[in-house]
Amino acid sequence: MNSFWHSLQFRIPAVFTISLLLILLAIFAVFSIVGKTMLEKQAYKQVILSGQNIVSELMGRVEHAESLAIALANLGEILPTKDDYWKKLARHIIDHNGSNVIIAGGGLWPEPYKYNPDLERSSFFWGRDKTGKLKFYDNYNKKSGPGYHHEEWYVPVKYLKSVRSFWSKSYMDPYSQEPMITVTVPMKRDNQFFGVSTIDLKLMGLHQYLEKITRSFSGYAFAMDRSGRFISFPDYKLTKLRDSASSQNQFGAFGSIQELAKRVPGFKILANEIDRINDDHIQKAMQTGRFNKDIVELLDKNSYQINNDEAKLVTAIYSHSAGKDLEMHRARQVFLKKDTLLGEPAFAAVYEMPETFWKIVTVMPYSKAVEDSNAIYTNLLYSASIATYVFLIIIFFVIKAILVGPISNMLTELQELSEDAGPDKNNGEGRKFLTIPDKSELGELAQCFNQRSHKLFEVQDELRKSQDTLRLFSAHQDNVREEERKEIAREIHDELGQNLLALNMDLHWMNERLPKSDKSLLEKSKKMSQLIDSTIKTAREITSSLRPPLLDEAGLEAAIDWYVEDYEKRHGIKCLLSVEMGDSVHELCNTATVFRVFQEAMINIAKHSKASVVSITIVVANSILVLNISDNGVGITPRDLKAVGGFGILGMRERTQSCAGKITITGYPGEGTVVRLEIPVSGGGDI
Ligand SMILES: Nc1ncnc2c1ncn2[C@@H]1O[C@H](COP(=O)(O)OP(=O)(O)O)[C@@H](O)[C@H]1O
Ligand SMILES: [Mg+2]
Repeated sequence: MNSFWHSLQFRIPAVFTISLLLILLAIFAVFSIVGKTMLEKQAYKQVILSGQNIVSELMGRVEHAESLAIALANLGEILPTKDDYWKKLARHIIDHNGSNVIIAGGGLWPEPYKYNPDLERSSFFWGRDKTGKLKFYDNYNKKSGPGYHHEEWYVPVKYLKSVRSFWSKSYMDPYSQEPMITVTVPMKRDNQFFGVSTIDLKLMGLHQYLEKITRSFSGYAFAMDRSGRFISFPDYKLTKLRDSASSQNQFGAFGSIQELAKRVPGFKILANEIDRINDDHIQKAMQTGRFNKDIVELLDKNSYQINNDEAKLVTAIYSHSAGKDLEMHRARQVFLKKDTLLGEPAFAAVYEMPETFWKIVTVMPYSKAVEDSNAIYTNLLYSASIATYVFLIIIFFVIKAILVGPISNMLTELQELSEDAGPDKNNGEGRKFLTIPDKSELGELAQCFNQRSHKLFEVQDELRKSQDTLRLFSAHQDNVREEERKEIAREIHDELGQNLLALNMDLHWMNERLPKSDKSLLEKSKKMSQLIDSTIKTAREITSSLRPPLLDEAGLEAAIDWYVEDYEKRHGIKCLLSVEMGDSVHELCNTATVFRVFQEAMINIAKHSKASVVSITIVVANSILVLNISDNGVGITPRDLKAVGGFGILGMRERTQSCAGKITITGYPGEGTVVRLEIPVSGGGDI
């Protein structure tokens, strides 16, 4: 039997398994290529959505503050320039219902000498104290102080004509230590710039709010002002405020993402993204041709808090339609290979809020995004493996049932048949054919095989018939030859022998009567008589060699005895003879066969074996005669036995077969040869 690897039972399921695995692999490949990008998109969507939530929440606060600032500005445009009015009404608007939570203060800030031609500084500013109550502050109007006309929140509104409302840099509320930002709205009188109104917006609780929103995706978010200064902080330790005490002014109190990126390189990508957004603003403004460099210079020069970069950005933002340009505020997606705060790969989205140009960043860990897909993967892998396993078992059994089973049945049947296919003992009866398993190709195969077997059997039958005829013919020939020999022997004996005897007697008679004096005549007749004697002897020898004289008269035993005696003399090989058989044996029909086989074996020994001793035993038992001849010669070789040329051995076999006997010839190299003949004796020679 072949090894299991070569069996169909292994190979066919193996092919199935491999193809199944390939299909699975393809599915996984497609899934990881297509599915992964889909999941990434989904993750970005979630990040963006939470960012949008943050934006809309902030917009609520921004709009509230802005509407208050506009209301305040409208008031400043129409109200008579009386301190009492300005002070009271400003307070009334700033303290508008519910404002105390997010509005830290606000005020009206006229241009120099416009409110009062005698006064350069005449602002009306209300701010909340520690208890949250509004207090009027006059600090900005102090003659010794720096005033307010050069503040960062004042100057841009004055020079940028298109500004509707301007949002300042972020700064820290001196009381609450909370981030804060100011919205400034211009006031006009007679189409002339008259000053500004401001509202200070508290960004208190923003950090908590961002945390709440981002908790759902285990990430974080933070907000920055226009130029990247933090409004909220993702990690207080990292992005903490700079020491406010050492800072000259309130605006210096916040760190920016660019500064943070210098300390913590992990933030560099996000910082660059913010810079890129702002650069885009400047580029766009330049492209539209509205970017006025004179204004940049004015802003730079007129505010000690605005440097050239800031002036450029502010000019760019407010001089083109960036505020309304949706394209500008679309979220930018960034992939962080290793986020500093999360310590793993993350998706980030950066937005810019309309109106305020604040930047919001939301970050989601990559692991969170692929969590679901991983779960799907494992599930899929698990169920696919089970499915494969079950499928394979089914395939295994199905193949066994429909293919391998029938084939191996057929194989067993074939093996049995081929073992049977020796010489047919039943004369063609009970011949076996393959069972046809079904109508499939296998069935057809079996059928074809059976047809072929049938033809073979026919040929075999014919061969056997002709063999039988030949055997009969050869037996007949043998008989005829035996008879002829007998006849010739008798003729020689009866006719030739008798005549020669008569001739010899006549010669004797003539010799008596011959004249004794004629010596030469006497001599001649004596020689004639001697010649006749030797001829008689030769004739006798011929007859006995043609047919052992004793075989017919005295039987097999006597004939063998006579032959052995003669053989020893002639070849000088010692013969040990032992015969045990009943008297009736010589009557059986096969004596001639036994004798001829014996004779041929003995001649072969003399001719080929170089033996010195031959042992011959003849035993009759159970109606079977067993003749055993063993010599101590060189031993017959298997090649000799198979050789076609040796007609002696062939004749031995033929004779034996024609008498339904059995002959075996065995050679032992260097030790001798054993010829064993078994032949049924019809006379019943039991001892
Ligand atoms: N007793 C034996 N010992 C050794 N070799 C033998 C013996 N009998 C037969 N052989 C070998 O078997 C061959 C075939 O014998 P046989 O058929 O009688 O043919 P032949 O005697 O004409 O050669 C012989 O040529 C001889 O080599
Ligand atoms: Mg021979």
